Amino acid sequence: SSFFRRTDVLTVTPWLAPIVWEGTFDPEVIDEAFMSQNLTIATTVFAVGKYTRFLRDFLESAEKHFMVGLDVHYYVFTDLPGDVPDNVTLGVGRLLSIVRVPKFDRWQEISLRRMELIQTAIKDHIHRGANYIFCLDVDMRFHGRVGPEALGRLVAAIHPWFYMDPRSQYPYERRTISTAYIPLDQGDFYYQANIFGGALEDIHRLTKTCREHLEVDKSMGVEAVWQEESHLNWYLLRNKPTKLLSPEYVWDDAKGQDAKEIKLVRFSSVIKNKAEVRENL
Ligand code: GAL
Ligand code: MN
Repeated sequence: SSFFRRTDVLTVTPWLAPIVWEGTFDPEVIDEAFMSQNLTIATTVFAVGKYTRFLRDFLESAEKHFMVGLDVHYYVFTDLPGDVPDNVTLGVGRLLSIVRVPKFDRWQEISLRRMELIQTAIKDHIHRGANYIFCLDVDMRFHGRVGPEALGRLVAAIHPWFYMDPRSQYPYERRTISTAYIPLDQGDFYYQANIFGGALEDIHRLTKTCREHLEVDKSMGVEAVWQEESHLNWYLLRNKPTKLLSPEYVWDDAKGQDAKEIKLVRFSSVIKNKAEVRENL
C-alpha cells in the first residue's frame, strides 16, 4: 500500500493529535475501517431567519460529500420550519429533523445561543441516537470529501485566515473581563466555529462549558469578540482536541483557491451579502 505523508504542512500537533490534510490518509482504508461499524453521525445546523436560504445548497452538497456511506441525522434548528426545503433527496440511512428555535433579533444572539441549544438537544434526544455529532454552519457548501477521517472524540478545524500567523495575531478574546480571555503568549491554533464535533459526551461537555461561560459574560454585560467562537477557542486551549481538521475542511470562498498547500477544498463558507441576510450589521 502507498505511503501517505506531507512535508509542506504541520500534520501532527505538539500533543500528538493528527491534523488531517489531503495526502495524509488513504480514503479507501478509512472507509473500510469505518463502514462496518454502523455509525450514526448527528449533524446540527442553524438556519434562523433569512439563513434558511442556504439550506438547499448545504444539504444537497452534504448528500454528495459529507459522511457518505454512514448514517447521518441532520438536526435543522430553525424558527421557520416552512422554509426548510422538503424535496432534497436524502440517501439511504439519512434523516432530517427540525428543531424549532425562537427568532433572534441579532445575528450575534443566534451565535451566542447556539451552544445552549446544542447542549439541550444532546441531552434531550440526540445522545440516544448517535455515535458522533458534528456542528456545522449553514452558510457553507461541501465541494469535496468530508468523511470518517474527520471523526474523533474532540475535533476542531483550523481557521483558514490565521493558520500562517503567530499566536499573538489570533483573534482570541483579549479582554480579561471575559471568561474567553486568552493572553497573547498562549494558544495553539485559532479554530473556526463553523465546524466542530466529536463524541456526544465530549461535545456535551464542550457546549455546556461554553454555554456557562457565555452566560457569565452576559451577566457582566460582556460579549466576546467572536461570540461562541471565542469561547470554543478558550475551551480547546484547555481541552486539547484529539484530531484537528486542516483549513481544507473550513475554507472560505472569499480567500480564493491559490494557496499551494490546499490541495482540495472540501467545505467552505460561501460569499454572502451580510447586509441582506443578517437582521442587523
Ligand atoms: C472571519 C469569519 C468569522 C470569524 C472571524 C475571526 O473570517 O467570517 O466568522 O471566524 O473570521 O476573525
Ligand atoms: Mn457562518
